[in-house]
Amino acid sequence: MDLEAYMRRCRTAVEAALNRALPDETVDPTELHRAMRYSVLAPGKRLRPILVLASAEAVGADPNRVMHAACGLECIHAFSLIHDDLPCMDDDDYRRGRPTNHVLFGEALALLAGDALLALGFELLTEDRSDLDPVRRVQALNMVARASGTRGMVGGQVADMESEGQSIDADALRKIHASKTGALLMASASVGAMLVGADDSRVRSLMKYGEHIGLAFQITDDILDLVGDESRIGKRVGSDLRQNKATYPKVLGLEVSREFACAEVEQAIEAIIEFGPAAEPLRAVARYVVERDR
Ligand code: IPE
Ligand code: IPE
Ligand code: MG
Ligand code: MG
Ligand code: MG
Repeated sequence: MDLEAYMRRCRTAVEAALNRALPDETVDPTELHRAMRYSVLAPGKRLRPILVLASAEAVGADPNRVMHAACGLECIHAFSLIHDDLPCMDDDDYRRGRPTNHVLFGEALALLAGDALLALGFELLTEDRSDLDPVRRVQALNMVARASGTRGMVGGQVADMESEGQSIDADALRKIHASKTGALLMASASVGAMLVGADDSRVRSLMKYGEHIGLAFQITDDILDLVGDESRIGKRVGSDLRQNKATYPKVLGLEVSREFACAEVEQAIEAIIEFGPAAEPLRAVARYVVERDR
């Protein structure tokens, strides 16, 4: 399949929906809305919303039914990026090829734009959708909330911070990456299928898939932080070194890290082996996660 064309199609649809979902810049408080739109509409890869759409498609549903959830996940992700870049966290000044949110809008507004995006993400997920089963919708909300909070992304960010300058082993590092990045990707890869009513065993398979690509994704992010091209990744190269972060290349070396990431991709594809041709986009996305240069 032509993954590039598939991703471009999804991105275009997601960006149009995000544009509609975000408050207009002319609406008060205008500066806050400008800050929110600035980060969300900046050119991201849209991997999480693409996964939401592809997971609905993988179980035979029309992906448009879960567009609201796809946008919700991207808003939660954008919140995590704005806060991750703050001076009190990774202190980065460049993201998605542009100055970071706090550089342009100041720390207070960046903090609040992040807060508002987290709330908007859940607002979108709870959008009134009579065509979706209410029990599934509550399950989906619960999963995304868990993935975002202390047992997921936020908890992982704390562990990431605490690991700065520490010597940790591969097992501990795996746990950090699984929570700070893997949890939201696991939710993204399964929530679309969950919402359209896929059976539990299929949802579990998709969660496994998401867990493995989540790890592969963050290992690759660590690798690109060392060997990536700044104009491609749209972020500063060497940010992890500067912050003395615990990363896969630091703990295991570049070559072993690459092997680990590829092994995770194989396991991701294995997890959805029973799925038919409708899961081809998910398989292609899994390979893309380690082959990407941005
Ligand atoms: C960056 O995520 C943060 C991580 C979890 C590694 P992405 O690499 O998906 O960032 P965008 O959305 O494309 O900007
Ligand atoms: C961030 O990991 C994970 C998040 C939850 C945002 P990184 O700190 O490595 O992400 P980048 O490299 O800044 O995008
Ligand atoms: Mg970070
Ligand atoms: Mg960072
Ligand atoms: Mg990184």
